[in-house]
Amino acid sequence: MTGAAPAIADAGIGSTAGLGPVLCVVGARPNFMKMAPILRALASHRPPIPALLVHTGQHYDAEMNDRLFDDLRLPRPDVNLEVGSGTHAVQTAEVMKRFEPVVDQHRPSCVVVVGDVNSTLACTLVAVKKHVPVVHVEAGLRSHDRRMPEEINRVLTDQVADRLYTTERSALVHLQREGVPAERVVFVGNVMIDSLLHHRELARAPAATLRAHGLDPALLDHRHGYGVVTLHRPSNVDDAATLADVLGTLAAVASQLPLVFAMHPRTRANIERFGLQHLIDAQRIAVLPPQGYLEMLGLMAGATVVLTDSGGLQEETTALGVPCLTMRENTERPITIEQGTNTLVGRDRDAILGAVAEILLGRGKRGRVPELWDGHAAERIAADLWGWLHAGHEATPR
Ligand code: UD1
Repeated sequence: MTGAAPAIADAGIGSTAGLGPVLCVVGARPNFMKMAPILRALASHRPPIPALLVHTGQHYDAEMNDRLFDDLRLPRPDVNLEVGSGTHAVQTAEVMKRFEPVVDQHRPSCVVVVGDVNSTLACTLVAVKKHVPVVHVEAGLRSHDRRMPEEINRVLTDQVADRLYTTERSALVHLQREGVPAERVVFVGNVMIDSLLHHRELARAPAATLRAHGLDPALLDHRHGYGVVTLHRPSNVDDAATLADVLGTLAAVASQLPLVFAMHPRTRANIERFGLQHLIDAQRIAVLPPQGYLEMLGLMAGATVVLTDSGGLQEETTALGVPCLTMRENTERPITIEQGTNTLVGRDRDAILGAVAEILLGRGKRGRVPELWDGHAAERIAADLWGWLHAGHEATPR
């Protein structure tokens, strides 16, 4: 694809065989790239499937929010709940309180939620108790680590969802083990990869990204190239000693390979709070604010290796064929390990340095692109949803 990505047509509110609009919910950064192709597919379905976009406002910074909306050509939200930050309880409760009147007002045919953030679960709970069918995109992923808030959000959302779309076949096994009937589950592929393939050719050059932040792009010209880092999981960044250890490991990696660190606000705030700024060597590590979608895509596509604790980056690097070292003990996306370029390294400094050394020797994981990560997952969702809604479906009796 060349030129600017087409704007997503406004699906608008219409009456389609008497059905209310599909309420599509986003809340936080990783939701935006999943919902963009779904909105596009609903609008271009024949006949179009009316949709409304609800933003809970969980992420609100220009860098975490506005830039991504622009890059992904997401339409302005029809409704913004503006919940902002808070503890998990406060954030979840605020979304629920503010989402309930939206459901009452629009009488949707279903509520579509994506991923595993607090907004996903909060809107699911509101809809399901009003007997509005819930559709979960990216269902069935499991890290089996119940200390992760995202795992709780996934398990509970899937338990009450009426239609579940999965990105990889292992998801069905988890869902069936948890008692979800197989007939509710449809393997459609990965909408996040729809976004990646759609925008790939528009990715910004890494040098331009560094220059835009007043940094010298010569850092990228190292003979081994450069690595990209993102970290924001509470387990890596919320404890002072752990974060210091992680930054020490990054410094050791940076002595072999310069790094570009796109820093999440949670991580930045904690580095300041714990007084750890001195652990970041500005000569070897370029620290950037959270990046737009096209900047991040360009940085990742050009990288020698990506070090991350993100869920999405594990999948995007697999689709791009770039080795990924995941700084977690587990992953809910095992296909990126079995078939893709991902390796779990936790916070084990020796394992990380060893893996980086292998990659610099050209022995990084190559991997292959998993089944149905082909850029058409959202179209499969729109086609299935149309049939399912018109089969006179109502929320599953429980
Ligand atoms: C959330 C999601 C996580 C996702 C991540 C991507 C949950 C439980 N977690 O985690 O799954 O991978 O988003 O970014 O939903 N903040 C800002 N500006 C913003 C948003 C947040 O400064 O626009 C600050 C908040 O004040 C807070 C911290 O960042 O202190 C964390 O934000 P929060 O939305 O609670 O969770 P994330 O860690 O971003």
